[in-house]
Amino acid sequence: MAKFLVIGGRELEGEIEVRGSKNASLPALAASLLFNEEPLFQNLPQIEDVFRMRELVEVLKKSGKINHEIAKRIRASILLTGPALARFGEVKFPHPGGCVIGARPIDVFLDGWRAMGVATDSISVANSGSSTVHSIPIYKLRASHGLHGCEYTFRVPSVTGTEGLILTALMANGDTVLKNAALEPEVKTLAEFLNKNGAKIRGAGTPTIAIEGRNGKLLESRAAFFAPPDRIEAGSLAVLGALLAKDLCIKNFPAGELISLLLTLKNAGVELDNYEIATNQRETILSHIILKRAKKFRAVDIKTKEYPGYPTDLQAPFAVLATQADGASRIHETIFEGRLNYIEDLNMMGANITLSDSRMAIINGPSILRGRKLESPDIRAGLAFIVAALTAEGQSEIGNIYQIDRGYERIDERLQKIGADIKRI
Ligand code: EPU
Repeated sequence: MAKFLVIGGRELEGEIEVRGSKNASLPALAASLLFNEEPLFQNLPQIEDVFRMRELVEVLKKSGKINHEIAKRIRASILLTGPALARFGEVKFPHPGGCVIGARPIDVFLDGWRAMGVATDSISVANSGSSTVHSIPIYKLRASHGLHGCEYTFRVPSVTGTEGLILTALMANGDTVLKNAALEPEVKTLAEFLNKNGAKIRGAGTPTIAIEGRNGKLLESRAAFFAPPDRIEAGSLAVLGALLAKDLCIKNFPAGELISLLLTLKNAGVELDNYEIATNQRETILSHIILKRAKKFRAVDIKTKEYPGYPTDLQAPFAVLATQADGASRIHETIFEGRLNYIEDLNMMGANITLSDSRMAIINGPSILRGRKLESPDIRAGLAFIVAALTAEGQSEIGNIYQIDRGYERIDERLQKIGADIKRI
């Protein structure tokens, strides 16, 4: 099993470019099932989750079936369900897994599909693919009388829930209005891609989205999908730069989508005045940002929120920075109940973090971190372990790096180029 061997304390310098967004690419790939001809995909990140999604799409196109072994490992596999229902009238799929960061129910999807006329059944089966035997639900959905448009209000504004119901509503008979929809930029990217290819979706990026149903008529492939820069990778690199950069330029930095992180970094004492603003067709973004290590960090509190609030996916890297800040920083995780799963490891590295409950961490700094053996628990905490290992004194070994490869393209090679001592062994 591959691991990362990391030696901490090196200064970072040079240029690093943000790759295409994982969470924008996955729904666009799922949407390819709704085209009469495969659309062109550009700037997709070369990461494991994209490879798995491509495999899922290929199998589904050929066989009309979702591969359960792959689907139960990635959350975004649920995005295929709507298109599969529209194309084949029925679909069977396992509870989508992905990162172990909380219960991750799918009730809002199921309620939405029922509102569109879908019959939903579920059975529980033993999960043979796991070392600890437990059962996972298998869902069977049928749209015997076709899909019909509806008005549906999300109980919680789910990101993949919004994307999944857009993809379903697009093929329905009649129009759909989704309320309390997720505001995340990836929803807007998906709607823009579909609209360029003939769909009529209004309001993506706001809480109310209207979708014109096409009654099964597939989209014509006119415009390619171009993956925008990954805001989470960009934000994680910014945190890394704030900790270790002598002079680091992050290119393709989508600052317009990272305001809450940038404000947090500023409050923590990171200088962010040296940047250049560019405009692209999406919105105003920073084309690049230059970071230098802050001499001293101030303690800051963060509370994760839906977009445009502080992203839950950037909570773990920030915790590493907070270990270097003067005083007590509090991290309140409001989105996922199991996402402070990395705290114990940071404490073993020398951090002083207490959990006041499963959603609130109090980080007392500054602490000297020391390298050690770590196992990546999920994509984002895995990257945070790389940040911690690069900040720490001495050597760390990070295992279970498949989790990191799921979300970050050849991160070791790219970090080596800016001076990091990280090797894949
Ligand atoms: N929720 C429900 N019922 C549902 C769906 C969601 O209660 O049916 C709850 C969740 O438990 C959570 C909240 O709603 O408390 C928000 O979850 P959401 O559905 O928005 O998350 P997601 O769509 O499963 C996406 C990203 C995550 C990111 C979250 C939050 C993808 C493929 N995944 O997940 O990214 O953390 O939104 O922004 O887009 C990652 O990339 O590593 C990752 C975990």
